[in-house]
Amino acid sequence: MTASSAGLADIGSANDDPEPAIVLDRHLTVSDRSTALATDVRTGLTSTPKELPPKWFYDATGSMLFDAITRLPEYYPTRTERAVLAEYAHEIAAMSRADTLVELGSGTSTKTRLLLDALRDDGHLRGFVPFDVDETMLSRAATAIRDDYPRVTVRAVVGDFERHLDLLPTADRRLIAFLGGTIGNLGPRPRHEFLTGLRTQLNDGDTLLIGTDLVKDPVRLVAAYNDSAGVTAAFNRNVLSVINHELDADFNPRGFAHVAHWDADNSWIEMRLRSVHEQRVRIGALDLSVSFAKDEQMRTEISTKFTRDGLADEFAAAGLTMVRWWTDPAGDFALSLSVPA
Ligand code: SAH
Ligand code: TRP
Repeated sequence: MTASSAGLADIGSANDDPEPAIVLDRHLTVSDRSTALATDVRTGLTSTPKELPPKWFYDATGSMLFDAITRLPEYYPTRTERAVLAEYAHEIAAMSRADTLVELGSGTSTKTRLLLDALRDDGHLRGFVPFDVDETMLSRAATAIRDDYPRVTVRAVVGDFERHLDLLPTADRRLIAFLGGTIGNLGPRPRHEFLTGLRTQLNDGDTLLIGTDLVKDPVRLVAAYNDSAGVTAAFNRNVLSVINHELDADFNPRGFAHVAHWDADNSWIEMRLRSVHEQRVRIGALDLSVSFAKDEQMRTEISTKFTRDGLADEFAAAGLTMVRWWTDPAGDFALSLSVPA
């Protein structure tokens, strides 16, 4: 792989390969990533209570574990969102008439194919822009889409959707998709900042498709984040391995237990790691030692559950108008389409 000074790299195909190469645009280099991780870990581990930010879950192992979560029997969001997309992708395509699909937090871009198919059938599709922090999964997903949609130009962007939205490629009409309920992993204030920041990037003709998980029976919610096979627990603990590898730390992941707690006041599931005994951890790259008391809990992730009215208000506060809302028959998960107000 070669990277030019502009941070562009051609990946996936040799010179004699007749397929066009994928363009990979790096806004987050390996060194930006470790600087940002170092700042977040220092801030989070020296706060009370301790906290770690969720975007660092997704290294190659984390993305693989998340992919396994999407197939768990307890984890209904992925298959429900897929069913809503299967039912309404053509309506979404007809409303957006987009020539370019931009996907934020794209991961494996699996459900996205339903949108790509519908946009292609609609006759305008020319480009696909997957955008993710995890370069490994991103380049794999982008290559697979390039192979299966040879007429679509794929431009993959490695970036942080909380920092790099101003660097998204423009097009005549873009459909910006943000699936999987990932918007709910942002707290209220970062979510507002994300939506207002995104709003300033939208031009007339652009549309925004957001997947959100909805409020429901807490028993089902907790089960979705505490599966019986322990995959979610492994995913949660993986953030400790990321810190071990990238910041030369000595976390013992087995010294921490996975906790999923429903916070009704905030309408979110909170993921935590509980220190099973008193312990001291050294983070070499930060020259920092941190002590954990027995049973001390550290927050690693929130996953907000929404209502239609609450979301419409949040969009309006960011200068967006929700024009359409689709759910599955049980009302478990929603897709909404918004436009600049
Ligand atoms: N959209 C996929 C994946 C959801 S998992 C689905 O619906 O199944 C969340 C994805 O967002 C992961 O691929 C993760 O790497 C990415 N992600 C998390 N925080 C991010 C950030 N700040 N900027 C860009 N991508 C992020
Ligand atoms: N966006 C996903 C969600 O909120 C991410 C996720 C699923 C997750 N399971 C998790 C995050 C477990 C942390 C821990 O549903």
